[in-house]
Amino acid sequence: MTRLSAITPSGHAHIGNHLGAISRWASQGRPGDLYFVSDLHAMTVSYNPARLRVLSRELLAVLVASGIAPEQVFVQSDLVRELGALSWVLECTCSYGEAARMTQFKQKSTESGEPMNSVRLGLLTYPVLMAADILLQGASEVPVGDDQAQHVELARSLARRFNSTYGEVFTVPSAVMPPTTARVRDLADPTRKMSKSTQDTIGSVFILDEPDLIRRKIRRAVTDGSDRVAYSPEDQPGLANLLEILSACTGTPPRDFTFGSYGEVKEAVAEAVIEELRPIRKGALDLLADQGELDRIRKAGAERAAERGAHRLTSALRLAGV
Ligand code: ADP
Ligand code: NA
Repeated sequence: MTRLSAITPSGHAHIGNHLGAISRWASQGRPGDLYFVSDLHAMTVSYNPARLRVLSRELLAVLVASGIAPEQVFVQSDLVRELGALSWVLECTCSYGEAARMTQFKQKSTESGEPMNSVRLGLLTYPVLMAADILLQGASEVPVGDDQAQHVELARSLARRFNSTYGEVFTVPSAVMPPTTARVRDLADPTRKMSKSTQDTIGSVFILDEPDLIRRKIRRAVTDGSDRVAYSPEDQPGLANLLEILSACTGTPPRDFTFGSYGEVKEAVAEAVIEELRPIRKGALDLLADQGELDRIRKAGAERAAERGAHRLTSALRLAGV
């Protein structure tokens, strides 16, 4: 049983990614689970190539420094040849209608504001690449939120269709609900979630931010004018977000804190976040400073991931008649 999870290097990884995903991957994952840096998925919208390269490397270092075993991690583009080949086979297994029906494509292709004719074709076909990610590794479970469940359904349909049309090759994957965790909101605008792709970075605490910068960002976090410390997500979303972050770092329920002022809350949150991130930041910076070691980890991960999928790719191509 293999569970496959990915994180896209569309920006620097932040405390939301850490508390909501990465720390759980490191502490609760099973030895057969796999994690990858989905850099090919970052190419579906406008991006900067030099920055993508840096972000991918940084994210790999963060995953390993967070305690995920290097054997379980790889970078997607290191398998671009295998994935490109399998994607083509799956594109020819998928209908245009199935791809065009994806809700996320409809949303993302319209919210960019670009005319439809200039939307990248990769934005339409990336769920098929995602199916290739899943099917190449033989993953049986894919933990995803609601926004990605439809894509896993597509991978499931394509696996079934390929198996029945050409021959049994693929494990049919299932979407599984990840355990609910803290949903960290943007510090500058608590109505939206903290996200890598947010341009205004003052609202995000990045895993590799220096302690002083973390302190400044948290001190500037938007709260309300009442200075009444109570856990009330509806009325006081900014404060509630800070208490939830503190709760996720310390294990104390957010209602149990007894602070006298917002200033006290912010100091406590800043110190807890700095302590939480300290070993990860150190580990990641050490890895990033040791090019050779990070390259070795990356290469070994890529080789293992390619080996894991080799027989499925070979069989799929042969059964497809090529
Ligand atoms: P982002 O929105 O930052 O680009 P991704 O969509 O790449 O993040 O998600 C990577 C993982 O991090 C997912 O498991 C997602 O649920 C988790 N995650 C992302 N943002 C947050 C957040 N603000 N709070 C909690 N978890 C988050
Ligand atoms: Na995102």
